Amino acid sequence: MRILLFLLTTAAAAFAQPLKDYTIYRAPSRIVIDGTLDEAAWRNAPPVGDFVFNWFKTGDKEQTIAKMLWDDENLYVSWHCKDRHISAYEKKRHGPVSRDDCVEIFIGPNPAKVKNYYTFEINAIGTMLNRCRTDWWTGPPTWEPDGVRYRTTYFGLDKKDESEDDDHWVVELAIPLMNFKRDAANMPPRDGDHWRLNLNRIGGKTNPQASSWSPISPPLSGFHSPDAFGNVRFSHRTASGFDSGEAEAGRAIYNKSCTQCHGLNGEAGDRAPALGATRRYLRQTNEELYDAIKNGIKGTLMPAMPLPEGDLRRVIAFIRSLRATAIQVEVAGDLARGEQVFMAKGKCLDCHSIRGRGGLIGGDLSNIGAERSLQVLRSALTEPKPVAPRGFQPVRVVTNKGERIHGVLKNHNNFSVQVLGMDNKLHLLTREMIRDIQYEQESLMPGTFDKSLSAAELQDLLAFLSRQGGSRR
Ligand code: HEC
Ligand code: HEC
Repeated sequence: MRILLFLLTTAAAAFAQPLKDYTIYRAPSRIVIDGTLDEAAWRNAPPVGDFVFNWFKTGDKEQTIAKMLWDDENLYVSWHCKDRHISAYEKKRHGPVSRDDCVEIFIGPNPAKVKNYYTFEINAIGTMLNRCRTDWWTGPPTWEPDGVRYRTTYFGLDKKDESEDDDHWVVELAIPLMNFKRDAANMPPRDGDHWRLNLNRIGGKTNPQASSWSPISPPLSGFHSPDAFGNVRFSHRTASGFDSGEAEAGRAIYNKSCTQCHGLNGEAGDRAPALGATRRYLRQTNEELYDAIKNGIKGTLMPAMPLPEGDLRRVIAFIRSLRATAIQVEVAGDLARGEQVFMAKGKCLDCHSIRGRGGLIGGDLSNIGAERSLQVLRSALTEPKPVAPRGFQPVRVVTNKGERIHGVLKNHNNFSVQVLGMDNKLHLLTREMIRDIQYEQESLMPGTFDKSLSAAELQDLLAFLSRQGGSRR
């Protein structure tokens, strides 16, 4: 009997899925706990990855996008729950919230003693249940953590019934790290510190799928399975791939050591190119940048720079910060007002499209925040371009039939021209069809929005543009 049981469990263990891993990056800026995940910090934080439906039988597998961040005070956790049937009724502190639509995080700060873990369970209307499952806890079955802040999409409602409009709900949680002082190796955690934890989701009335981030395989069953907790490591880097403190230190080193050729603050200099985000880079990765600076670039004026390793790392962080796209940085401003300016006063839709609406000649801006740096966006709006970029040269054509076409030149050869008109149509014209054609130099993009908009409107518009693209939300 014993042998059979042994065989069964080892067989099951052989099918066990590997535990999950995740790096918790530092939040580069303040996170406001308001139940919306609109900070750049959240957008840049990588999701933990798909949840696993450990006990699935039938129904819809609705995914959860969970992310984590930290700073010296808090661990931040967010869940974006796809859910077409959202219901929650439990209002009592420490009540049985997992009967409702509910998210959970179970945290084991000491990987050598993972059975010491702390639980946070929150339902869709914002009722929380906590337990301290540790060998030293002598209090009641429930536990009062210090200073926890959280918001949910339906926070504070008396109840949430399922509704036709249900699509998703969000939980944003900040847990002061001091709550884990007794079990954690370091407080605050050090770079590379290893903890174990799992994130869970339970499904409410209809389609009550239970899922977890790290898989829970037989013989383990149920969420209270610390042996199935995934591995997380705290990193001192920010999610955007550079440390903002290091980047600032790197700026100073750069301005001292490199500006004999490159320009101040990474701009173009007399003898070397700008290092910021305005051209296609030859060197993208940390390794490539390291190699260029440490060893120089053969056949060019770029010399090997004898910097100490630490300084080299800081300068690389600085160069990466210059290249960060707008969506990776925190851009102040009111998004709704920015969208308003975009749609109305700025007349941007006359020439640009966004999410399937608007004109064509200026190009689509649905992903612009993920493609351009904030600096490039600002200069597009405030610096007129005396020479339009390739593919955007304005032309005015009069055809033999007397038709007038104003637009940008897309293609031309000796026999024909293609003009994308302000009417959003592509005009294919042979030379015989053309009575007159005037080429203009200056871009149609009005680079004067610092004059036609107020400073606040321009800032709101930049905030709006910087959020376009990249994110799954
Ligand atoms: C004596 C002039 C000179 C100095 C000093 C100099 N550079 Fe350069 N650097 C250049 C030139 C010229 C290039 C362009 C090389 C090419 O054409 O590929 C360049 C290219 C680079 C590139 C590659 C850019 C890319 O995207 O491919 C990096 C990175 C770089 N420099 C970093 C630095 C840093 C950091 C310092 C200071 C620690 C520095 N450089 C000092 C002249 C210089
Ligand atoms: C009369 C037409 C027109 C209007 C109005 C217009 N744009 Fe443009 N825009 C263009 C054209 C053409 C380009 C491409 C050529 C260029 O970059 O100069 C462009 C380029 C841009 C770029 C740079 C795109 C890139 O890929 O780098 C941004 C950003 C931009 N526009 C934003 C806006 C915003 C925001 C508004 C409204 C406040 C606006 N534009 C209004 C025609 C227009």
